[in-house]
Amino acid sequence: MSQTHKRILLGISGGIAAYKCAELVRRLKDQACEVRVVMTESAKQFITPLTMQAVSGEPVADSLLDPAAEAAMGHIELAKWADLVLVAPASSNIIAKMAAGIADDLLTTLLLATPAKVAIAPAMNQQMYAHPATQANLSTLANREVAIWGPGQGEQACGDVGKGRMLEPHELVALALGELTPEAPLLAGKTVTITAGPTREALDPVRYISNHSSGKMGYALAEAALALGAHVHLISGPVALTPPPDCDVHMVSSALDMHQAAMKLAPNSDVFIGCAAVADYRAADIAEQKIKKQGDEMTLTLVKNPDIIADVAALTAQRPYTVGFAAETQDVAQYAQGKLKNKGLDMICANDVSQAGIGFNANDNALTLFWDKEQQSLPLASKSELALTVVKAIAGKLN
Ligand code: C5P
Repeated sequence: MSQTHKRILLGISGGIAAYKCAELVRRLKDQACEVRVVMTESAKQFITPLTMQAVSGEPVADSLLDPAAEAAMGHIELAKWADLVLVAPASSNIIAKMAAGIADDLLTTLLLATPAKVAIAPAMNQQMYAHPATQANLSTLANREVAIWGPGQGEQACGDVGKGRMLEPHELVALALGELTPEAPLLAGKTVTITAGPTREALDPVRYISNHSSGKMGYALAEAALALGAHVHLISGPVALTPPPDCDVHMVSSALDMHQAAMKLAPNSDVFIGCAAVADYRAADIAEQKIKKQGDEMTLTLVKNPDIIADVAALTAQRPYTVGFAAETQDVAQYAQGKLKNKGLDMICANDVSQAGIGFNANDNALTLFWDKEQQSLPLASKSELALTVVKAIAGKLN
């Protein structure tokens, strides 16, 4: 690896997600990465080399047979320069070429010539992604230790909905940094159980009460704990996120389901992090049939859900180090410290959700950690970066 350990060769292939590459390069540069861009011919139909040159601050390479570019930095030199080669977006075409070892342009040639780690961020129509040919090519690449990041799920540029969206720039940056700066295995041999996302409290067979929790913070914590070498159980409510590979995922719906999973896993865990936005109440009775429209008003009777994290913290034998989250809109420190005490937690991570751009559904967050009589403020950062700081702080408190 280079001295900076952060030299990234970004290969852009032809796909609509290429428009996100300008943001990707800017975010990588914010993280002190050196970035050089190589584009395929079709990538240039989606984003201009001039844009990529402006954001990377380096000339963009796009031709194997360009004497000027070869004189500046030959393609083998460029292949050796990189600590990481990231192909984003990776179209089905370039994935197929990589699997077959074809080298018919600069990017595919570099991919064969580089000794560096290669990662790809697939992005294509969901049908093309699901096609057995693409899946077979991806397995070939995975067997060759190419890291496959994503794709994500959701609405696609073509109007389809499904798996095939390129991961967002901030997610790719977190993965790239994770690849380039391996973390010390502070949680090796430890088991960490994390709850994430909302719960759904059914009213009848078609309706439920829930909240806007996206699950992003809990999933980022799972990723961070994995990066520190932990065995991770992720107990997740319904969210639109792809869980990190390598963790044990337990999908649940209601608070009672989440409680049951948590009480089963917590006694065998070293750390329990309650990041889920658990519904405080559920319907006293779930109607067997769809509730019919009645008068102008209706009354629902709700009963209290168990407090999952308080029950974990109250375990007497095999009690894990227990960490809660507190989303507050006012008097953050006071309420958080109250919860730390009342729920019997070891640590609480508080955030002020009244501030725009952080907390629920956002990609960024700011937290204050409270434990014993101490506290630590973690300024605004991506949820991935914050998660790593939180998990490292937890690791420092074990034993
Ligand atoms: O009381 P409040 O919901 O603000 O507390 C937040 C913390 O408690 C979070 O860590 C959340 O995951 C956890 N919690 C829980 N079970 C509940 C309610 C909250 O585990 N029923």
